[in-house]
Amino acid sequence: MIDSREVAVELASPGDAGVLANLLELYSHDLSDVFALELGTDGRFGYEKLSLYWSEPERRFPFLIRAGTRLAGFALVTRGSPASGDGDDFDMTEFFVLRRYRRSGVGRRTVFLLWNRFAAQWSVRVAEGNQSGLRFWARVIGEYTGGAAEETTRPGSPQAWRVFSFNSERT
Ligand SMILES: CC(C)(COP(=O)(O)OP(=O)(O)OC[C@H]1O[C@@H](n2cnc3c(N)ncnc32)[C@H](O)[C@@H]1OP(=O)(O)O)[C@@H](O)C(=O)NCCC(=O)NCCS
Repeated sequence: MIDSREVAVELASPGDAGVLANLLELYSHDLSDVFALELGTDGRFGYEKLSLYWSEPERRFPFLIRAGTRLAGFALVTRGSPASGDGDDFDMTEFFVLRRYRRSGVGRRTVFLLWNRFAAQWSVRVAEGNQSGLRFWARVIGEYTGGAAEETTRPGSPQAWRVFSFNSERT
C-alpha cells in the first residue's frame, strides 16, 4: 500500500523526454483497448506532440508522478481546452498511473495536487469506452468539487466523450 503523502508531481525537464516517451508507450498500449491505436513500423506507438511540452513551456506542462523515489506515472497538462475552446482553460490531456500503483490513491492524490497548483477552469475529457477512466474521473472530480462539476457528453468518432468541467479556484 502506498502512503498518498509520498506521492509527488515533478515538472519534467527536457532530459526526462526519454522517460516520458517510455511511459507514453505503456499508456498507449493500455488505451489501445479503448482506441484503435496502431504501432508504427518501429514497434512503438509514438507521441508526436511530446517535444511541444518543452518548446511551448507557457502552455504545456509535463509531469512525472513519483511514489516516494519510484516512478508511478505521468500527467500531461495543457493550457487551452479543446472542450471549451477557451485558450486559458486547463486540460488534463493525458494521465497515467502504472498498474503496480493503481487503486492506492496515487491518481487521486496527483490530480488534487495538479488542480491546486493551477487554480483555473479545468476540463477533463474521457472516452465513453474507457470504463475504468470514467469511474476514476467521476469519483475524484466529484470528491474534489463536492459535486459541483458540470458533466456533458460530446459526440465523437468512433466514440463519444464525457467532459467534466469545473473551476479549481472555487473549491
Ligand atoms: C484511471 C487511472 C489513472 C486511475 O489511477 P489510480 O491511481 O488507480 O486511481 P486511485 O487509486 O486514485 O482511485 C481513486 C478512486 O477512483 C475510482 N477508480 C479508480 N480506478 C478504478 C477502476 N479501475 N474501476 C472502478 N473505479 C476506479 C475508485 O473509486 C477509486 O477509489 P477506491 O480505490 O477507494 O475505490 C489508472 O487506472 C490508469 O492510469 N488507467 C490507464 C490510463 C487511463 O485510462 N487514463 C485516463 C485517461 S482519460
